[in-house]
Amino acid sequence: MTSLLIDNIGELTTNDDGVEVGGRLHNAAIVIEGERVAWVGAAANAPATDEQFDAGGRAVLPGWVDSHTHMVFAGDRTAEFEARMAGETYAAGGINVTVDATRAATDTALSENLARLIAEARRGGTTTIETKTGYGLTVDDEVRAARIASEHVDAVTFLGAHVVPRGSDPTAYLDLVTGPMLAAVAPHVSAVDVFCETGAFDEVATRRVLETARAAGLATRVHGNQLGHGPGALLAVEYGSLSVDHLGFLSPADFDALAGSWSGWEARSGSSPRGTVATVLPACDLSTRMPLAPARELLDAGVVLAIASNCNPGTSYTSSMGFSVATAVLQMGLTITEAVRAATLGGAIALGMHMDGWIDPRGITQAAVGRIAPGSRADLQLLEAPSITHLAYRPGMPLTSAVWRAGTRVM
Ligand code: NIG
Repeated sequence: MTSLLIDNIGELTTNDDGVEVGGRLHNAAIVIEGERVAWVGAAANAPATDEQFDAGGRAVLPGWVDSHTHMVFAGDRTAEFEARMAGETYAAGGINVTVDATRAATDTALSENLARLIAEARRGGTTTIETKTGYGLTVDDEVRAARIASEHVDAVTFLGAHVVPRGSDPTAYLDLVTGPMLAAVAPHVSAVDVFCETGAFDEVATRRVLETARAAGLATRVHGNQLGHGPGALLAVEYGSLSVDHLGFLSPADFDALAGSWSGWEARSGSSPRGTVATVLPACDLSTRMPLAPARELLDAGVVLAIASNCNPGTSYTSSMGFSVATAVLQMGLTITEAVRAATLGGAIALGMHMDGWIDPRGITQAAVGRIAPGSRADLQLLEAPSITHLAYRPGMPLTSAVWRAGTRVM
């Protein structure tokens, strides 16, 4: 097994509370062996290796973990975006436009579009990607989306409960989603999501989706509190969902429930019991002109936070985690260290990938992601900058200089 030393790192962010001093290490080095990190420490103490990479005094951090995307789609919603920028309100109606385009697309077209988006994300430093179904909304189209996704990404989530497709009876569609559709898609996915919102699925329907998912042995997530106040966050906590995502409209009770779900848990050990991650989607909040999720207040309340891109053609057509992190700092009041942690370790916790031994969609057992620590998957990015501060200080600049995923240089 080849070993690689990355040394002369100007600033190293590890997310490993056991190693990191003051949040960031200086004059550090990393040794990668095969797919994993083997050693992290002061450059002066680095062991001998087969190969060496000089980081040139630049910053190294974990690869981004993008825990919320909808990348299996066809078509374009530029007109809807323009109307929104001219004052229209986002109300989820455009989902059916993408459903029509996606159903009409060939497998090859969907697969190529997904590969294109993943390549974009990799160039921006993303090394772990979750994506959802939800633009098929028939048994065959949802299975197809899940199957195609599972060939490309690290986690696939079933989102048959995205909206009721045009022309369908809501009760009959819920029966389909929680019955034959879930059964057919289950072999390809690790989690089930539901869009709990006025105009999508109400509390009763959301409970049914979460209950049937749990009975099928699948993890759950909730799209909640995106367009207004609602029961999404409370239901996510009640059902032990891995995450609740969006969160522009939260009540004091939502804060209490989310914070309560984390009491007694320490990220350092990664041990159970664990709570429901609050996933904020800054690019989506901007693109829909919705209130920014209260990321600062969530962190202050003790909630574990993730930042994700929500890459999709309707509400957030970007896979840029760098942009999301910069926005979280510039607009949501996070420090750069908090934002980077939420976009790496936070995403990993939201996906259940922060510990060794998770299984990817191809059935391969994987090492922990979201940290740079001995034993973790060697997913890291080198910035064309001396510190992670530049991610927010120089927003919009292409600062990713090199990316390693599972020990292999991918950019
Ligand atoms: O996360 N909110 C629901 N789903 C997506 C949007 C999908 C769309 O409009 O196409 C989201 O924002």
